[in-house]
Amino acid sequence: MQNLGIAITGSGSAVPATSLHNQQLTQLVETSDEWITTRTGIRQRRLADPTDSLSGLATAAGLKAIASAGITPADLDLILLATSTPDDLFGSACKIQAQLGATKAVAFDLTAACSGFVFGLVTAAQYIRTGVYRHILLIGADILSRWVDWQDRRTCVLFGDGAGAVVLQANDSDRLLGFALKSDGTQNHYLNLAYQDTPQEIIPGVNVAQGTYQPITMNGKEVYRFAAQKVPEIIDKALFAANLTVDQIDWLLLHQANQRILDAVAQRLSVPEHKVISNLANYGNTSAASIPLALDEAVRQGKIKPNDIVATSGFGAGLTWGAAIFQWGR
Ligand code: UT7
Repeated sequence: MQNLGIAITGSGSAVPATSLHNQQLTQLVETSDEWITTRTGIRQRRLADPTDSLSGLATAAGLKAIASAGITPADLDLILLATSTPDDLFGSACKIQAQLGATKAVAFDLTAACSGFVFGLVTAAQYIRTGVYRHILLIGADILSRWVDWQDRRTCVLFGDGAGAVVLQANDSDRLLGFALKSDGTQNHYLNLAYQDTPQEIIPGVNVAQGTYQPITMNGKEVYRFAAQKVPEIIDKALFAANLTVDQIDWLLLHQANQRILDAVAQRLSVPEHKVISNLANYGNTSAASIPLALDEAVRQGKIKPNDIVATSGFGAGLTWGAAIFQWGR
């Protein structure tokens, strides 16, 4: 069959204007620039202010990706929004569809926390490979600053806000060379943004559980251990599926959670430092946005060039993790 391959033909990103440096966090919690920098590599992060919205950031990133792919919003068949922090629990993808004027596109949200972009990439690929859709906008966007406990120094120093997007198009040759996805709900309790209810008896004998979502809780040590072990394994699996060896990849593009995780994974896979893409010093952990944000920067800086082979991996809450090996461009 012809034209059932996928190509990633454009990228874009958008971040809020406000920066928060490590030093400023010392006004809030007992921490130091030195602790944050040495333990995580993060120096600053962008924070959404009350006038920003998830759909606004995502739309801005999406528009840039569409422009760089050389298509128009009217060409889109599907908009996939990977996020854990929609403006509306019913989903934010349709609002983005309206803001883009992508009248033909089906739009829905997909939640897989920090793995959302990789899970979204693989999901989008299935629609193209089956011939159902030909032009897909995949956006990874999160505003975790709205859900961290700003009194909890173990988590509030880690996260930032942003959005990144790519356009996937039907193509003669298939540029998604291999992938592998995994979930393990038995470790769900290590990273949560959990709903907590207060039982309410609405009429005698009938109880409902109304409440709100609680700030992020994380067992950092366990999540670190999980990432350092599982990410190299899943990249190996994806490389095997792609029939490639690790020395054939041009770039290692991991979810930007912690520089120490990036270094440990690269070391385990024997990927030299100059092939590791890292921008977390400037943005912190932006969850579903981190991979497309780093990808877009690397493309615009001229680092990632057409035909380069990129090994990417997302990991996080769920727990979920996944890897995809793709060749940039048509
Ligand atoms: O996106 C989803 C994926 N998430 C991740 O991948 C996160 C994975 N985990 C990590 O990146 C690391 O575990 C952290 C960066 C979260 C923490 O680094 P760590 O080296 O594992 O530190 P720790 O939790 O073992 O804490 C060491 C010490 C503790 O003090 P005690 O108990 O030794 O006295 C903490 O209380 O550092 C303390 N600490 C801090 N000190 C200053 C924790 N947070 C801070 C802080 N500033 N912000």
